[in-house]
Amino acid sequence: MIKSPLKWAGGKARVMPQLLEHLPKADCLIEPFVGSGTVFMNTEYRHYVLCDNNLNLINFFRQLTGRPEDTISACRWIFSGGNNAEEFYKRRAEFNSLTQKADLDPDAALLHAAYFLYLNRHTYNGLYRENLKGEFNSPFGKYAEPYFPENEMRLFAEKANDTKALFYHGDFRDSIPGTMRLAHDAVIYCDPPYIPASKTASFTTYGKPFTLDDHRALVAALLNVNHQYGHRAVISNSDTPETREIYSAFNLHSLSVRRSVSAKSRDMAGEVIGVLRVCDDCDSAGGGRCPDCGPVMGNATYGEMFLGFDPAKGCETQEPF
Ligand SMILES: C[S@@+](CC[C@H](N)C(=O)[O-])C[C@H]1O[C@@H](n2cnc3c(N)ncnc32)[C@H](O)[C@@H]1O
Repeated sequence: MIKSPLKWAGGKARVMPQLLEHLPKADCLIEPFVGSGTVFMNTEYRHYVLCDNNLNLINFFRQLTGRPEDTISACRWIFSGGNNAEEFYKRRAEFNSLTQKADLDPDAALLHAAYFLYLNRHTYNGLYRENLKGEFNSPFGKYAEPYFPENEMRLFAEKANDTKALFYHGDFRDSIPGTMRLAHDAVIYCDPPYIPASKTASFTTYGKPFTLDDHRALVAALLNVNHQYGHRAVISNSDTPETREIYSAFNLHSLSVRRSVSAKSRDMAGEVIGVLRVCDDCDSAGGGRCPDCGPVMGNATYGEMFLGFDPAKGCETQEPF
């Protein structure tokens, strides 16, 4: 397992072997919720499009990839003498004051990336939490000797440059339709914040809640790009009744993993990997784009099948909806 330079809630290191069994071959992997980049680091696609709505995270990846040695040096400098509460809160304030400036010049963006790694490695479990003003407010983690991930940073930068990885900042509602035309033969892997496994767990691990409506919007976006571009989709989520209802267009494979975000959720939580069901013949999901979609997708698709399909043209030439 190749580790990311970042500790990240929901990191996929523990389930990589199972995930690899379900990720189809393709030229490009698109990740709308890239987080630590563990999936990127442990797969072998030729190209990657890596997105997240956390701009500070994307800035770190861009700096590291664009200027690896400068970023590593800046990170080492910010790490030094920083493992005590007083320095942590001083550096956290400096990070937040840089975050507030709309357009950072290249040096400030590099410094911001270095603070980002410092905070990630010195706060508890790498927890990324913001207050209502958008300020990072995770507390000092009290680690005896926080690890400086120099080797991991180098490997990340090398892989990103070798695969010409593209980094985008944005909500999945924009990144999914916005980046799909960058690749002809792509798989989209979505690892959104999970649906809480119990009523007492919260939706808010990453700041803004990721609600059931967000999950529904994600499924709609994935179906839409499947119909438009033929891209296949794989998702991860908790195994809950809501997941099974919302992600019903996916074949859901159960696994059991130990989560590590907070003490409350340390019990064994069920988790699923979902693979978008597509017709063997036309690779389309749930839409009935060719006569073979009927048996695969069920009777519900027959209406659209006969409305939309032109046997003279075949599936490939169907217009997206
Ligand atoms: C479970 S983590 C992904 C973990 C990742 N697979 C890994 O191995 O580290 C979910 C990610 O989704 C991002 N996120 C949350 N809401 C989002 C949204 N609406 N659009 C895009 N990204 C979002 C968070 O910033 C976080 O990095």
